[in-house]
Amino acid sequence: MRIMDYTPPKIGPNAQKLIDRDRKVMFGAHTRTREIPLVVDHAKGARVTDVDNKTFLDFGSGFAVVGTGHCHPDVIKAAHEQMQKLIHISGCDFYYDTQVTLAEKLFEITPGDFEKRVYFGSSGVEGISAALKIARYFTRRPRMVSFLGAFHGRTFTGMTLSGSKKIQRAGFAPLIPENYHVPYPYCYHCLFNETYPHCVHKKFRGTPIPYCLSYLTDVVFQRLIDPEDVAIILVEPIQGEGGYIIPPKEFLPALREIADAYGIILAFDEIQCGMGRTGKWFACDHVNVVPDIIVTAKAIASGLPMSATISRAELQDPDLDERAWKSGAHGSTFGGNPVIAAAGIASLRIIEDGLIENAAKIGAHLKNGLNEIMNKHTIIGEVRGLGLMVGLELVKDKKTKENLPDVITHNGRNIKQVITGECFKRGLIIYGAGFNSIRISPPLIITKDDADEALSIINEVITHVEKGLL
Ligand SMILES: Cc1ncc(COP(=O)(O)O)c(C=O)c1O
Repeated sequence: MRIMDYTPPKIGPNAQKLIDRDRKVMFGAHTRTREIPLVVDHAKGARVTDVDNKTFLDFGSGFAVVGTGHCHPDVIKAAHEQMQKLIHISGCDFYYDTQVTLAEKLFEITPGDFEKRVYFGSSGVEGISAALKIARYFTRRPRMVSFLGAFHGRTFTGMTLSGSKKIQRAGFAPLIPENYHVPYPYCYHCLFNETYPHCVHKKFRGTPIPYCLSYLTDVVFQRLIDPEDVAIILVEPIQGEGGYIIPPKEFLPALREIADAYGIILAFDEIQCGMGRTGKWFACDHVNVVPDIIVTAKAIASGLPMSATISRAELQDPDLDERAWKSGAHGSTFGGNPVIAAAGIASLRIIEDGLIENAAKIGAHLKNGLNEIMNKHTIIGEVRGLGLMVGLELVKDKKTKENLPDVITHNGRNIKQVITGECFKRGLIIYGAGFNSIRISPPLIITKDDADEALSIINEVITHVEKGLL
């Protein structure tokens, strides 16, 4: 394999001016790259226009946030109307219609035919922190279980529970004690060298479990900790930042069984995979597993910041169960903001009105096209996805599944950087994920023509990169 030539995308004059100003004011831990030097002026639907008047097809949606597309008119109208009435009063202390209406609507679409309660926060990780606080308070148990490859956010709770990349945790220790990371079923590169479906040869209380989960049941729960000390098992039904990894269908039912066996609260992080993206409201709907807590954020209000931590009612309501958190135990100033809740209500209406079906239909078309590209090339090992949450696994050789080297260009770039950079040069925005994956997460409004345009660019880029390497 050769080392290839690669030049990062050219930066326009207006873009360069803003990048230079930004360099002098913004925090150094940001994740901006030279591969996607996007300096945005405005955006509409699936298109983003930069300050030098170049337009891009956005298949990243601001990290799976603008599900209804950029600047959907109904979202703008709802937020604008609410802004003229009330912008802020503090939803944890006072009452107003939009947060109650949004809660009622969310209860209809989230899994579980039981009474529910919600805590609204302002970011994904705040929703995750609330899930942990609910579980610890209710169970009075200290321990947590989460997964390798998981991403749950950047606060101490988020870092503790995440297991995606060491850069996200290094330098910040000590984190919160008593979390145990266990393997996620990343079947393409199975840690145990098993293959699906042969790996499902064990059972837990009669329920089949993928072999990797026996690390939890037979190792962690036998040698390290008493499962009855565990408050929460937190899991992404599809891993996002970890590489758009879809677990086998046995995985979530097995987790449900394990959680029930020991009285552990099962929480799903649907921050990235929820809100219609996979062709159902929530990714867990594909296997009909109902969690005790579900956390959603990102697409919930089409780009305005909000998260919702929704649970069985008794976990959050001390009138129903005296173990639930009591008045004053939790809260936030901005959670459930009236304007953002109005945007959320509008977003749910738009998603309900055809976008879930569109995600399933265009997602299948996109996946077919990517499979055709994979079949013509050696460096795509797997195309995986549900709806418009589609990942590409990049490899040196798909027969051996050997990974590409960390550096594949003369100027020190890796495969994800080269592919996203070459796509950007051709007017398409997609991002990397995990160590060797590309994630494709367009707005749910995209058309077949949009998908075909992206496929044609991806095909050209993969052909170009492969030629450079082989
Ligand atoms: C699955 C998942 N959980 C949690 C988070 C954290 O969300 P936020 O950045 O809004 O705190 C993210 C963000 O990418 C995510 O993808």
